[in-house]
Amino acid sequence: MNKNLVSAIALSMTCLAMACQKSVIQELPEISSSSLNITGQSNLTPKELLGKMIYFDANLSEPVGRQACASCHLPDNGYSGFASLPLVGQFSGAVAGIGEGAFPGRFGNRRAPSAAYASFSPTFKMIEDNEFKGGLFWDGRATGLRLGIPAAEQALGPFVSYAEQNHPSPVAVLYKLNSPEYQELWQQVWGSPISTSNQQQIDLNYDRVGLSIAAYEASREVNPFTSKYDAYLRKQTDLTTQEKEGLAIFNNDGKCFRCHLSEGTAVNPPLFTDFQYYNLGIPKNPQNPYYAVNAAFVDKGLGGFLQTSTNAAWRSAAKNNMGKFKTPTLRNIAKGNNKRFMHNGAFTSLEQVVDFYNTRDDSKSRGRWPKPEYDDNLQKGWLGNLKLTAKQQAAVVAFMKTLNDGWSNNASAPVN
Ligand code: HEC
Ligand code: HEC
Repeated sequence: MNKNLVSAIALSMTCLAMACQKSVIQELPEISSSSLNITGQSNLTPKELLGKMIYFDANLSEPVGRQACASCHLPDNGYSGFASLPLVGQFSGAVAGIGEGAFPGRFGNRRAPSAAYASFSPTFKMIEDNEFKGGLFWDGRATGLRLGIPAAEQALGPFVSYAEQNHPSPVAVLYKLNSPEYQELWQQVWGSPISTSNQQQIDLNYDRVGLSIAAYEASREVNPFTSKYDAYLRKQTDLTTQEKEGLAIFNNDGKCFRCHLSEGTAVNPPLFTDFQYYNLGIPKNPQNPYYAVNAAFVDKGLGGFLQTSTNAAWRSAAKNNMGKFKTPTLRNIAKGNNKRFMHNGAFTSLEQVVDFYNTRDDSKSRGRWPKPEYDDNLQKGWLGNLKLTAKQQAAVVAFMKTLNDGWSNNASAPVN
């Protein structure tokens, strides 16, 4: 791995565990006055700020200091995880797009999708034809039906997940949060200190952890809509010839817009997802470290979740939804250069992703793509044999690179 990259990552990870936390603590006195400005860039409400502190707090892992939400959803990486990071060392690593848990050597089986723009996902529901929409996670299982907000329910999982932040129970998380760094802000946001006196209080306060994180994830800071494409929609800049060609293909012959909805305006910008579920026939990621634990693992996606649901109508729709995964947003997809793609991290570049959409079913490409991880319910329309030229494929990639937040008129434009 490139030496600079290693030190850049080491820096940002150090920041996760120490420096950022320290600055959070230093900022606290200001919080109770009027300024809530933690980054010098955006003003967060007290609830958003509380969520941000929790999101970046690597103290909230077991062993302590190994991992925060941000370890697998780093802003500089498009709020997603890394392709690979060293496994030995102070912080959790990553293998082939799969993040290591706080406990050394433990891995989940999926790649981290972006936590930015995720809070726009509606609550999970059945739509027509046994299809589903909304919820969070690749399989929608953070439905949002209990708290009304999928992101709040999602955020309750990682702290107590064996393969993530690894606390034995919610109360273990609440004990840590019941500390001087958080007390004042928590009281300001929730009106009373954290209580763990009985199960009801534990449940109530643990839900508040999720609701605080969801508030941060829904904040302007996480969803700024400051990409070059947003500036283009606002008529503040033009796209290059290649980017425009990519946009036209995205919205026509490439058929990307069918699922990564691109219709939108300056005031109502597109999210590049329909929050629905498809089986694109993505191959296995043979390097997924989870296979070391379960060599026979096949990810059933949405169908796997529906199958275990208490809702009878959902259970009977499970078969039709085996192997399907939620369409992810494409915002910030090109951010960071140590990334993998798809639910299992099977693809290593955006070029490869577009090539797959273009040629999955093209007879000339037979044998180039390994067989689907799950071959039932395969999406037939809209992809597989798009007949795009190499130049057109490159243009689609160039267009996707206009979706990174943080663009400004002063930034250097991509080479045309
Ligand atoms: C070890 C890495 C890891 C850590 C730590 C982690 N996540 Fe994730 N995150 C993932 C993976 C993997 C998924 C997808 C899991 C799935 O679909 O089953 C995910 C999914 C999500 C999603 C759903 C996005 C979508 O579009 O469906 C959100 C939001 C999210 N995480 C936020 C968080 C928050 C908040 C925390 C801290 C409380 C956190 N994550 C901690 C790896 C991680
Ligand atoms: C039929 C709906 C559909 C169409 C059409 C479609 N996508 Fe996707 N896209 C998805 C789904 C679903 C996933 C996640 C699949 C998985 O991981 O199994 C995805 C994943 C991606 C990813 C990886 C995102 C990530 O976070 O890993 C990229 C990039 C992408 N699509 C770009 C495109 C482009 C470019 C096109 C047009 C050439 C396109 N998509 C067409 C539904 C679609």
